[in-house]
Amino acid sequence: MTSQPVTSTPTSHVVGTVEEIPPGSSKFVPVGKFGVGVYNVGGEFRAVTNYCPHRGGPLCVGQRYPVIEPSEPYQFEVSGEDEILKCPWHGWEFDLRDGVSEVGTKRIRMHRVRVEDGLVILEGV
Ligand code: FES
Repeated sequence: MTSQPVTSTPTSHVVGTVEEIPPGSSKFVPVGKFGVGVYNVGGEFRAVTNYCPHRGGPLCVGQRYPVIEPSEPYQFEVSGEDEILKCPWHGWEFDLRDGVSEVGTKRIRMHRVRVEDGLVILEGV
């Protein structure tokens, strides 16, 4: 018996191969009302609606940063895998691991992502 090839459905979308989205990179998928950014955060995929909960800015155009850890004065210690996404409009920052804003009061809309047969598949959009 041969397996069926992985294809997109009305609620799941083949984003690309795992190799096309290496750690630290992302890919924009034009689905849903605003589009979705799929991010590789240290080997794990996260998907975020391209809509900032502050005033609707295009969140997926924003830059990514690592977490800056508490440290001594005038020292900046970073950790992680660029898991902070900064909105380009007013600078709100969100953690791609859980979707929560830096102050913990707002959350970005996240979607499920799975890997099947080497393909990254976005679900629920
Ligand atoms: S719209 Fe994103 S920070 Fe204001």
